[in-house]
Amino acid sequence: MYRETPQPIHLKDYRPPEFLIDRVELRFELDPECTHVESRLDLRRNPAAPPGGGDLWLDGEELRLTHLAIDGRVLASTEYRVDPRGLTLYQVPDRFTLETQVEIEPSLNTALKGLYQSGDLLCTQCEAENFRRITYFLDRPDVLARYTTTLIADQARFPVLLSNGNPIARAELTDGRHSVTWEDPFPKPSYLFALVAGDLSLIEDRFVTASGREVRLQLFVEPHNRDKGEHALNALKKAMRWDEERFGREYDLDFYMIVAVSHFNMGAMENKGLNIFNDKFVLARPDTATDADFDGIESIIAHEYFHNWTGNRITCRDWFQLSLKEGLTVYRDQEFSSDVGSRAVKRIRDVRALRTHQFAEDAGPLAHPVRPESYIEIDNFYTATVYDKGAELVRMQSALLGPTTFRHATDLYFARHDGQAVTIEDFVRCMEDASGRDLSQFRRWYEQAGTPELFIRGHYDAATWTYTLNVRQETPPTPNQPIKRPLHIPLAIGLLGPDGRESPVWLAGEPEPPAPGTRLLELTEPEQQFVFTGLSERPVPSILRGFSAPVRVHDDLSDADRLFLMAHDRDGFCRWDAAQTLHERLILALVADETHPIPEDYLAAFRHALGDTTADRALLAEMLTLPSETYLGDRMAVIDVEGLHRAHRHLMCELGCRLRTELLAIYDSHAETGPYVFAPEAVGRRALKNLALSYLVYAGDESGLACCRAQFETAHNMTDVMAALGLLVDQGGDEAEAALQSFYRRWTGEPLVIDKWFSVQAKFARPDALERVKALIHHPDYSPHNPNRVRALVGTFAKTNQVCFHAVDGSGYRFLVDQVLELDPINPVLAAQLLKPFERWRRFDAGRQALMRTELERILGREGLSSDVFEVASKALA
Ligand code: TRP
Ligand code: ZN
Repeated sequence: MYRETPQPIHLKDYRPPEFLIDRVELRFELDPECTHVESRLDLRRNPAAPPGGGDLWLDGEELRLTHLAIDGRVLASTEYRVDPRGLTLYQVPDRFTLETQVEIEPSLNTALKGLYQSGDLLCTQCEAENFRRITYFLDRPDVLARYTTTLIADQARFPVLLSNGNPIARAELTDGRHSVTWEDPFPKPSYLFALVAGDLSLIEDRFVTASGREVRLQLFVEPHNRDKGEHALNALKKAMRWDEERFGREYDLDFYMIVAVSHFNMGAMENKGLNIFNDKFVLARPDTATDADFDGIESIIAHEYFHNWTGNRITCRDWFQLSLKEGLTVYRDQEFSSDVGSRAVKRIRDVRALRTHQFAEDAGPLAHPVRPESYIEIDNFYTATVYDKGAELVRMQSALLGPTTFRHATDLYFARHDGQAVTIEDFVRCMEDASGRDLSQFRRWYEQAGTPELFIRGHYDAATWTYTLNVRQETPPTPNQPIKRPLHIPLAIGLLGPDGRESPVWLAGEPEPPAPGTRLLELTEPEQQFVFTGLSERPVPSILRGFSAPVRVHDDLSDADRLFLMAHDRDGFCRWDAAQTLHERLILALVADETHPIPEDYLAAFRHALGDTTADRALLAEMLTLPSETYLGDRMAVIDVEGLHRAHRHLMCELGCRLRTELLAIYDSHAETGPYVFAPEAVGRRALKNLALSYLVYAGDESGLACCRAQFETAHNMTDVMAALGLLVDQGGDEAEAALQSFYRRWTGEPLVIDKWFSVQAKFARPDALERVKALIHHPDYSPHNPNRVRALVGTFAKTNQVCFHAVDGSGYRFLVDQVLELDPINPVLAAQLLKPFERWRRFDAGRQALMRTELERILGREGLSSDVFEVASKALA
């Protein structure tokens, strides 16, 4: 049987659009079973495009065309051609109005692309290329148009009808239907179009912009969720103020609407004036959401808001430029979270995520540059590389320019490109033009995949009072990029004297020493030497402060140096990183030799840290958190799944025993008093307390277990409840079952909490984990149609439960692939997301590699595979 192999598209093939669309008028007769969409497009030849043939191509998928006319004249069947990907109009005029009518079926749209049904709502998701599932269009981001949208629907079933911009007309129709017309004054690409219809409850607030305009902030939720919207609205107001102060960006419409929906493939979507959110990133109440949930909501609300300037006002020319909006917007949301919370803690969490997910991506078969050169399915490129490494590239440019010049450079970017669809190159040029710096070598960061490695050796010369750092850089080969060129890398360092104080980082040859503190070195060569002078004693270098570049560092520091940095470094990131390296080396030593002793000075350092009542609680919790098994695996030549798990457990247990007194004291002194507040200090206290509890429980400590039971029974906030439940479930036995049952009974009817109930059962390396997960697939509350539920159960199992997912008999792999194949016809984006853990397959022993390869091949043997899953599976095997 013939099967079409999906073909890649290439950046080098970019051509400007032959036609432009100035105005779009849409009219929807909404019905979940059959929605009629009428469109009127004002098209004209693009003066900037090279002359092409006289035909016009319009994208369109899964549409039933019922009417087609140019300038009011219905076309004969010889004047056009419809195929599964779109519509060709033969020999069109240079300027004309196109009318189409199509029918679509939202209730059957399980892929959640285009117009779909989520519970009783109708909503849209058009990024990246899904507007073409709503109507025939030039569905590419460099076609910017003004939209007017009329929505018509049954008034009882869909009392609220929303689209982008401002409402300009409303009418009640005679047949029980009503209509609302929306006008968006800002030209936008089709991926930012949105509509929502349903019975939604409105929570309203207001915001006065710096220039004194009042904006109505409207959060729409299903009526039973009315009591879970406050946190999101507060986050929105904070983000709006912050963007004015930090980037000089004001909001530009009279309404800012956010809708929470239960079925969503990603986190949220920045549609102009009408954000649509996965409800997981909106809804929160102290008893239903954890601190991590509150945190995630704050940063995603901010992220989508920041897109209004970085993404919407200035958008991408083509999807290869995705990081232009995503990398920059992640950078902005990271900075926002740093400013409203703790900068060091935020940085640590972002670096941990980057090292765990992005470094793995860069080291695997799907490694791609921040600006990819080709893709089969753009949905597969919403990756840690495009988002998080992309944000690091913006961060490095801000470091190279310094804060004041960087602000001039972003001001220039906003002034120069407002209203345009541009490229990453345009952004970098603004950085150059505002600073006068040459970033030609820096641009390689956007083109080269792979994580650069720095090899750093230090040498102190007592005779000359100099300290020399030798730095060599190397980027490993990645698919299709065997040879790498040296990068322009900002390397922030400090030098600590024996008393722990900062020395001036004084480069030999400079007449004067600078003030003591951090200094930004710039690497441009494969190998460089830096000689520091004026040092009467050997300093301890504090390297890559604030994680100034997304690189791996191999240095020659001793464990004693790291303990010293842990105690004295002013840079919170470096203090944490020193602790992490100590944990890592110890766990890897324990993998090699189970009897490896736990060094006394290591224990003493943590005992000391726990006793320091002045230390930042959140930072301390981060320092005491061991690196994950997933991350540690990537640090081994061949991942030893069981060995790592044993060593990890062993160290947790040892720390629990050896630091018992201090941990119990922390637990007791950090008990929750008073009502829940989401503020850095309170969050840090809960984090440290629950970390202490976990060490005690892993150590089998009876009083720890008693605290855990009591906490599960009596805690009023979900952070403390989940911390205790996780530990009980990990322990197993009747108590775990009873806890799970009572939790389930308490929270039926709260789907986001039930997601937690699913994931907590998938997470832990219990012998029955896979059986349990398989049984839960048949639970009445499980549904392959809800991505949050699927990720909670199947995703958590494959991503978090290393031991059970990588079971030597291949049962975990078979299970995941069974699920992927079942989901693929339902929701290809989600199916492809679930395959992520297989990208690491070559990192395991030969037996597991063979099992994973067989499963990847089983996927490729399936007829009618989506291009999403095809791309991931085929590239993983290549
Ligand atoms: N632009 C969205 C964001 O980063 C991401 C997104 C939401 C998305 N939904 C999507 C990307 C669906 C691809 C497909 O905020
Ligand atoms: Zn985004």
